[in-house]
Amino acid sequence: MSEFHSVRRLPPYVFEQVNRVKAAARKAGADIIDLGMGNPDLPTPDHINEKLIEAVTKPRTNRYSTSKGIPGLRRAQAAYYARRFGVKLDPDTQVVATLGSKEGFANMAQAITAPGDVVLAPNPSYPIHAFGFLMAGGVIRNVPATTGPEFFHALERAVMHSIPKPIAVVTCFPSNPTAEVADIEFYKDVVRFAKQHDLFVLSDLAYSEIYFDENNPPPSILEAPGAFDVAVEFTSLSKTFSMPGWRVGFAVGNERLLAALARVKSYLDYGAYTPIQVAASAALNGPEDCIVEMREIYRKRRDILVDSFGRAGFPVPSPKASMFAWAPIPEKFRSLGSLEFSKLLVEKAHVAVAPGIGFGEHGDEYVRIALVENEHRIRQAARSVRRFLETADETLHNVVPLAAAR
Ligand SMILES: Cc1ncc(COP(=O)(O)O)c(C=O)c1O
Repeated sequence: MSEFHSVRRLPPYVFEQVNRVKAAARKAGADIIDLGMGNPDLPTPDHINEKLIEAVTKPRTNRYSTSKGIPGLRRAQAAYYARRFGVKLDPDTQVVATLGSKEGFANMAQAITAPGDVVLAPNPSYPIHAFGFLMAGGVIRNVPATTGPEFFHALERAVMHSIPKPIAVVTCFPSNPTAEVADIEFYKDVVRFAKQHDLFVLSDLAYSEIYFDENNPPPSILEAPGAFDVAVEFTSLSKTFSMPGWRVGFAVGNERLLAALARVKSYLDYGAYTPIQVAASAALNGPEDCIVEMREIYRKRRDILVDSFGRAGFPVPSPKASMFAWAPIPEKFRSLGSLEFSKLLVEKAHVAVAPGIGFGEHGDEYVRIALVENEHRIRQAARSVRRFLETADETLHNVVPLAAAR
């Protein structure tokens, strides 16, 4: 029987394959140190949980909410942009609350894409950046996931040679998975290019608050002159306040794009449960020391990861931001590709990482290591990795024929 049209456009999640190996190892009693998925392990701050509990007991909060978010939540997001970026937003027309930024991104793609439309998406990148558009019937043309001249050369070639002309470009800095950061000059150039070539820009700023260079917090694309003419930006409470399961995010910026998103959402959802929106407003309006504390925890983990893995023989470049390190696969194992290497690491070292291929073909020489286990566990992972690398020749001798047969 032939596969459904939409399902054909969604190959099985690569990460599932590592998850299966992980589950089998756990079933056999292994203690797996899981640095794979970017699933924050830190607790949501108490004052946010308390606000949720209080709101749950209030009358009428059980009713359907509003799909673009309650006014108080949209006002809180506008206040955050004013405070953090010096960007003024109209909460009524320039802010839409979403069920996590992933939902917002996917429904924005749905809202603006006609079948066959070409969209420029970074590779490697967080999967929804490409698959949101593929699901909507669009076509992806890859651009490098970097801020350098090669990015702009790729954009120029794309507008010159794509038929039809591209409708939009996606940016994601601090990048998942590469952890590369962008400065405001980059966004100015992107906006200038987009205006010149009639492109929309979708900027994913999920890691706005997870950065390690105090003097250079990640900027918003909306700080660039003219950005409101072409750009929408997505942010999330998932990482900032360690609220990944709550599903609260935002799209802000260009009014026409946001009106399209709000229209699609009005047919699909009634917004998050009102107490979640009330507590999310309290998060954004509340004290910022919890954000600083979490940032410090990620920074310590990063330093320990870079130091301990480096000494174990697995050099990991130190990320400037995000909760990930993007590490080239150790030389001896590189030809296996990132999926086989990641499976081996689970089987032999009991350490799970995300294979770079899961973020696109240009990620296959890397693995992504998430800072989602505590310092003790990261050191433990490094010890395991050291033993794994010490026996590399033997492992490769035994497993390469097996890997080829898989
Ligand atoms: C770059 C990026 N965008 C979006 C998301 C999804 O965030 P949310 O939980 O808000 O849907 C993630 C989650 O890992 C991410 O890394």
